[in-house]
Amino acid sequence: MTERLSAAQLDRAASLLRDGALVAFPTETVYGLGGDATNDRAVAAIFAAKGRPNFNPLIVHVAEIGAAEPLAEFDDRARDLVRRFWPGPLTLVLKRSVACSISRLASAGLDTVALRAPAHPLAQALLRTVGRPLAAPSANRSGHVSPTTSDHVLDELSGRIAAILDGGPCRVGIESTVVDLSQKQATLLRPGGVPREQLESVLGRLADTADVGAPRSPGMLERHYAPARPMRLNVSSVASDEVLLAFGPPLSGASATVNLSSTGDLTEAAANLFAALRQIDQPRFTAIAVMPIPETGLGAAINDRLRRAARGRAN
Ligand code: TXA
Ligand code: MG
Repeated sequence: MTERLSAAQLDRAASLLRDGALVAFPTETVYGLGGDATNDRAVAAIFAAKGRPNFNPLIVHVAEIGAAEPLAEFDDRARDLVRRFWPGPLTLVLKRSVACSISRLASAGLDTVALRAPAHPLAQALLRTVGRPLAAPSANRSGHVSPTTSDHVLDELSGRIAAILDGGPCRVGIESTVVDLSQKQATLLRPGGVPREQLESVLGRLADTADVGAPRSPGMLERHYAPARPMRLNVSSVASDEVLLAFGPPLSGASATVNLSSTGDLTEAAANLFAALRQIDQPRFTAIAVMPIPETGLGAAINDRLRRAARGRAN
């Protein structure tokens, strides 16, 4: 069965990982389902535990730039971003170095690798203790929302992973921003915890996946965030059989209301998003109505996840 480990049992978590076992761990964004990124069998076991229909490339976690540099080709743009945003909710997609020790499966056969240094102190301590990069997708079953507490992880993966390191609720609550620097034109593959505006202040204008044609982040196509009930976005009124996902002062008339942030704070809303999606996805509601959320700062990432949730059932 899956062991629940406290911060005091970090060494146990690290030795399980070094032995090729899977351990979920907290990051400041969401919980990750970790395995030794240099071990093909451990990486394969991650896909099996998630029940992923196909091999999407995984984010490889490191404690700091020194651990990342041997794995990929860092240019000035990458170093500038790292200096400003690591450790933190930013993932860089870079060309694999010739000597890259990361499992090819973690890169899903691409010639790139996605790297991130998480800021959560327990993730930092774990990475330093393991002494190896950890591949970790969000610790949910395929098609479900990302977990922001250890209970969410156990709901989804109990019995499928060796252990979970419990670090309490995640502070940011929405996944990392993914930026592709493997080509000349820097491209935003996934909006996330570092707002686009902050990246553009360092890099200049970022292209979008839409501008460059085929999506280079296959995970973007997954039905990651699909509740079982129909979902309407940007509503200005709500029906009595609907549950309202509110932002700011709530509309009246819903059968129930879950507020992402009653004060209209985007940071608080991001932190609450995935727990709220779980709360509203209940059979006693016929449908879900979502109030408008501004498209600025973290709002872009929140709206991206909500749009995918809303169309998830259809594709
Ligand atoms: O905040 C996060 O990023 C969390 C925590 C655990 O770090 N992780 C996470 O992983 O959200 P996952 O697997 O659920 O999403 C990874 C995203 C996917 O959209 C995937 O396609 C993209 O990163 N990705 C990973 N490697 C890539 C690569 N080499 N090229 C393009 N996209 C890549
Ligand atoms: Mg995910």
